[in-house]
Formats: sequence, structure tokens, C-alpha cells
Amino acid sequence: MAKISSRFVCNSCGYETLKYMGKCPGCGDWNSLREEASGPRGVHAPSIRVPAVPLDQIPDTSISRFSSGMQELDRVLGGGMVPGSMILVGGDPGIGKSTLLLQVAGNVAGSGRRVLYLSGEESLSQIKLRAMRLQLDEPGIFLLGEQHIERLENYLEEIDPHVVIIDSIQTVYTDSISSIPGSISQLRECTARIMKMAKNSGRVFFLIGHVTKDGALAGPKVLEHMVDVVINFEGDRTFSFRILRSAKNRFGSTDEIALLEMSGLGLVEVIDPSHYFLTERDSSVCGSAVVASYEGSRPLLLEIQALVVFSGPGYARRMASGIDQNRLALIIAVLEKNSGYNLAQHDIYVKVSGGVFLKDPSVDLGIAAAIISSFREKPLEADMVFAGELSLSGEIRAVPFMDQRIKEVEKLGYRSIVIPGNSDRRDLKAPGLNIREIRRIDEFIREFEEG
Ligand code: TYD
Ligand code: MG
Repeated sequence: MAKISSRFVCNSCGYETLKYMGKCPGCGDWNSLREEASGPRGVHAPSIRVPAVPLDQIPDTSISRFSSGMQELDRVLGGGMVPGSMILVGGDPGIGKSTLLLQVAGNVAGSGRRVLYLSGEESLSQIKLRAMRLQLDEPGIFLLGEQHIERLENYLEEIDPHVVIIDSIQTVYTDSISSIPGSISQLRECTARIMKMAKNSGRVFFLIGHVTKDGALAGPKVLEHMVDVVINFEGDRTFSFRILRSAKNRFGSTDEIALLEMSGLGLVEVIDPSHYFLTERDSSVCGSAVVASYEGSRPLLLEIQALVVFSGPGYARRMASGIDQNRLALIIAVLEKNSGYNLAQHDIYVKVSGGVFLKDPSVDLGIAAAIISSFREKPLEADMVFAGELSLSGEIRAVPFMDQRIKEVEKLGYRSIVIPGNSDRRDLKAPGLNIREIRRIDEFIREFEEG
């Protein structure tokens, strides 16, 4: 009989050790090692010899993609679902993962295919309630209240689904390992088994994964390298806007994002996102600037709000929502150095509208403009948009895709855009738009003070 001993496995990175340690040597996390019985491993090396196949004899699978029924999701997947693939969908609790995949189930079933929805989190009647809310009644959706991965294989033979949804991967378990569901060894073993099922059968598997407090998929690295696609569901639960962003995609680009809105009837696609974000903006208030950001492969116009209030000597607060806190600190430091404004004695709060998190550095200039406007208590010119990265020395650096940004600004009826002086604009004609090129932030501040 195989000897059963115990080992310690890190819950964050999967590092294994025989003795307990407070700090994981793999990822440096504290208190993340959990004891697990190390029985015989479930995955054995195959005893049959597998022949090597010449590359040109392997069939091309890219042509056989099928649609999820949601254009935006298909875009993130690289043009639809690839048979035999495994897609990990991660996100905070309540963000809409189950809703999204139930909608996908409805669409796939509506196109005449069968879907198996395995739920380890909610009862079947709870899912039925959600399906009624989403007005789904396709006969091709089968619900399964099963968490046992070995038994899933029997159901697959019986129902023969094209798409299998596992809600969530943390709740399923295999008997071949004695540790509890959700532990790293269980996650790894179950995912390995599902991967086999996917590759052998050509079915598409969606795995829903929980996210830990610090934003990583629970058991992240262990799962990410095994699956084909990793999609993160982003957004602020208090807002209805959601972004699907792929962190890994073996069948497409990771640049694409999906823009969705949670409505009373589930997730709907946002057709004109820039318009969506700017409808409620009042251009006459101080501290409000519009930025031409670029997310995925699309320009996106958003409002940045800044609030600068006098706090007196001592520690001034800086709070960023929707942008990185360190980036805000950097922009403030550059402003302080180049403007002569005394920002050190002011609390500064910056917020991006709609609960979106922006990573595009081109929003720097807009953030700086919003801060200046709030500090001077003077609104920025109405109908003005900003796009430019701020360097540490106060220069405005060029950003890519300027043509697409300008087109979007023009489409939405804005009259001017402030861009970096050395922007690469090829054949762009925007007759209705006043394009103002600036090279340094102090240049903008001077114009703003004089204007
Ligand atoms: P859910 O999909 O259960 O989130 P997750 O699986 O990521 O934990 O639901 C998310 C929220 O969406 C929930 O608070 C209810 C809300 N919701 C709507 O606003 N509209 C709808 O049509 C549905 C089905 C849910
Ligand atoms: Mg759920």
C-alpha cells in the first residue's frame, strides 16, 4: 500500500514543503501553508506509448469555433469558443459570474446544443429562479447538483453536452485526494481531470473561480497555467458597468475587453460605452475632466473627478478610485514641482466614473487637469478632452492610437482635445475639432491660468 504522509502546501502559489513554515518560500505570503495528506497522486504517467504527430497532420481547430451568443464575450475569447478548451472565469463574489454563464448556457442551448451546468454553490431551485429572471426556458440546459468529479464523467456520457459549466471549481472534489474541496491539491487534481475530459471529448468547459481579497484567483498560479483562457470579471458591484478582460488566451489576443452592464434582465452589451459614461457629466463643475483612454482595442471616453481640499499642515490624504494610488501620488508630485501650487497641504481625492479601473497611462494628463481645476476652483473648458502621459520631468509624452482616440472624441461631439506635442498622427482629418498640442504640463497650467 502506498505510504500516506503529510505535507504543507501554499494556498497562494502551490509551493510544497515537508515542514511547516510561517512564510512561504515560493511567493513570500505569510501564514498561507496548509497541511494536507499526501496520498498517491491521481495523475499517472500513461503506460501506452503515444506516437509523435507531424505538425502538418494536426487538424486546424481555429475554424470550428462557436459563438457564446454574446458578441462581447466572443470578442474576449478571440472569436468564440474553441471545442476542447477550458476557460477560467474569475471575479469577486456577486459580480455576475453565475449570471453570465447561465446566459451563455441559454444562448448555446438556443442554438440547438446541450449544456450541463454543475452547481456546487447554489441549489437547483436558486438557479431556476435566476433562469426565470433571465427568461430562459431552453430545454437543452441540464442542471446538476453534484460536486464529485468522478461522477461528472458518467453524466457527461449520459447527457453528451457541448458546453459544461462548473460553478465553482472550488466546490468540486475528487476521491483520489484526501484534502478538503477548495484546497490547492484538490483544485489542481480536479482541474487536471477536467482538462483531460475537455481534450478527449472536444467539449468546452467553463470553470468559475473565486477571487481572494487581494484580487488574485484563489489558487491562482496553479490553475492559470493549466487552463486555455483566463477571463477576469472586473467592476464595482455598486455600479452596473462590468468589464471582462482576458489575462491569458491560447486562442486569441489578451488585449480585448468586453463591456457589459448588469441590468434587470442579466448582463447586456454596452453598445456606445463612451456615451454611456458621459451622459451624467456636468461640464460646468470644477475638478471634472474627460479623458480619451484606450482599453482593449477600443477608445473609451471617461470622466475623471478630482476634489482638492485644504487640510493644513500635517499628513495630507490622497485617495484614488479607479486608478493606481501610486500613479496619483506621482502625478501630484509632478504637479507640485511644475506648478508652484502648494498641494502638500491639501487632501486630494480622484475618482473615475462608472467604477472602471484604468491602466492606460494616457489618462495622466486628464487627472492632472482635473486636480488643477479643483485646486483653482475653476472649471476646465467645456467640450475639452485630454490624452497624454505625464513624465517625471513634467513633459507630456506621446501615447499610441491617437487617431482612434481623436475619432471617438469627434464622434461624441467634443470640440477640442489636448494631446502631446509629438503625437504620431498620420492621415487624420478632424475638421470640427480643435487639436491642441502641448509639450509640458507647465504650458497647460499657464494657459489655464490665463484663460
Ligand atoms: P451572481 O451572478 O450570482 O454573481 P456571482 O456568481 O459572481 O457571485 O449575481 C450577481 C448580482 O447580479 C446579484 O447581486 C443580483 C444581480 N442581478 C441583476 O442585477 N440582474 C439580473 O438579471 C440577475 C440575474 C442578477
Ligand atoms: Mg455565483
